Amino acid sequence: MSKVDTGELAKEVERRRTFAIISHPDAGKTTLTEKLLLYGGAIRLAGTVKARKASKHATSDWMEIEKQRGISVTSSVMQFDYLGHRINILDTPGHQDFSEDTYRTLTAADSAVMLIDVAKGVEAQTIKLFQVCRQRGIPIFTFINKLDREGRSPFELMEELEQVLGIRSVPMNWPIGMGRELCGVYDRMNDQVELFQGNDHSTIEVRKVGDYNDPIIREMAGEYLHDQLREELELLDVAGDPFDLDKVSRGELTPVFFGSAVNNFGVQTFLESFLKLAPKPAPRQSTEGEVLPTEPRFTGYVFKIQANMNPAHRDRIAFLRICSGRFDRGMSVKHVRVGKDIKLSQPQQFLAQDRDIVESAYPGDIIGLFDPGIFRIGDSLAQGGGVVFNELPTFSPELFAKVTVKNALKHKQYQKGIDQLTEEGTVQVFRTASFDETILGVVGQLQFEVFEYRMRVEYGVEIQLHRMPYQFARWLVADKIDPAKFRINSTLVKDKKDNYVALFENEYAMRTAIDKNPDAQFLETAP
Ligand code: G4P
Repeated sequence: MSKVDTGELAKEVERRRTFAIISHPDAGKTTLTEKLLLYGGAIRLAGTVKARKASKHATSDWMEIEKQRGISVTSSVMQFDYLGHRINILDTPGHQDFSEDTYRTLTAADSAVMLIDVAKGVEAQTIKLFQVCRQRGIPIFTFINKLDREGRSPFELMEELEQVLGIRSVPMNWPIGMGRELCGVYDRMNDQVELFQGNDHSTIEVRKVGDYNDPIIREMAGEYLHDQLREELELLDVAGDPFDLDKVSRGELTPVFFGSAVNNFGVQTFLESFLKLAPKPAPRQSTEGEVLPTEPRFTGYVFKIQANMNPAHRDRIAFLRICSGRFDRGMSVKHVRVGKDIKLSQPQQFLAQDRDIVESAYPGDIIGLFDPGIFRIGDSLAQGGGVVFNELPTFSPELFAKVTVKNALKHKQYQKGIDQLTEEGTVQVFRTASFDETILGVVGQLQFEVFEYRMRVEYGVEIQLHRMPYQFARWLVADKIDPAKFRINSTLVKDKKDNYVALFENEYAMRTAIDKNPDAQFLETAP
């Protein structure tokens, strides 16, 4: 085992912040990511983020679907330094490229930034991603974006956070006007006003004030906006939640920042506050109990496998979240499931889409390991072995399709493909009880496309997918299961381990089945 300087390890852990941005498409995630990267001096990368989205990828050799769409199929990781911190942003893809990988990526984050459009409020995809973060109990920081546009009242948005997501919020700053009238934001923590300068992004004017009653604000914002600000902040002081870091850390209270990413307005203050308040890499649960990041022995787990980054070589990259110790290039570690030592000789780190070889990395960092097919999602690596992390929950599929093979002679390859791809976590597979047909279950449409593509390219099997009307899957636990009870707007299938799973077309059908089977348990994921 290589010798690790524990003082240095503690310092490196202390300065790391690993987070994901969760949002609904169009809220401004790409824009905000770009601006954050700019603070790390990563100007070239900032361009890359946008370019990737705009499908201008000259240097990319990612899989074809991604090229055609101009999106990142699976999440990537961006790293930069700012004010002595090392920051890892985990990208969580949205839109049609939403998949189980999106959820799994969240398990590698220590906190989340929830980005909300001031006019649209909490949207569908934000809710889904929020719930995964909530389950993990990680701190969530909210950035309400597009303040330069007319939007909803800040109070209304806070109310929505509570009603829809069930989380209390504490505004760290407060808008002075909005849209065309936007004058700036009042920073409640530092008693200062950040003035909005419209299109002149180069200077951000910050004025220290006594408090929100200060006549300087009246001079800057005018009588009307100042009166409004005073009224609203008085109300907040009396009726709002006070800032409480413990509650924030437990994910019970979300600090809210208002700003405009495209104008780079409020972004710097947000980043700096975030770095102060967000947690360093947290301990992780394992079969051996809690693993502290400052433990000298290296451990980590695979949360994602990206196939075909280079189609010519058909290689795969396993994304590993480091949980403890220091990673050194070329080190040997135990692949716990397989029980063998492996040498990590070609690690890569991700800066937007550029892949660099890393020499060393620390807890909170994500490294990409060359994978000749030895890794599965959820695998643990540990110096000395023993440790198994149980970080990866399975997710209840929401989209279903029946698979047929176009050429019956290809059955063997087809079976091999199904086995490997389900093992990798590309899709979940079920069989119908009666006809032994294969049904795939996914959380995002892209997973079907990736499955179809990989079946064709990697296994030489043309398949056809027939979408089914089901929207919910529930694993049944009961002494006796009567298939006759699952015929109306539902069907009964089996998973790989022969567990019964009921699929439902709608919530009503599911509720009815639950009512009619009081002795059965209906679980969202496999028991
Ligand atoms: P996404 O990754 O979350 O999908 O969102 P993205 O950053 O691509 O932003 C979606 C749209 O919202 C973009 O406009 C972007 O410029 C705009 N936007 C982001 N932040 C702000 C903001 O603070 N204020 C305003 N007014 N707009 C903002 P677009 O027209 O779709 O693209 P583009 O041509 O501007 O790049």
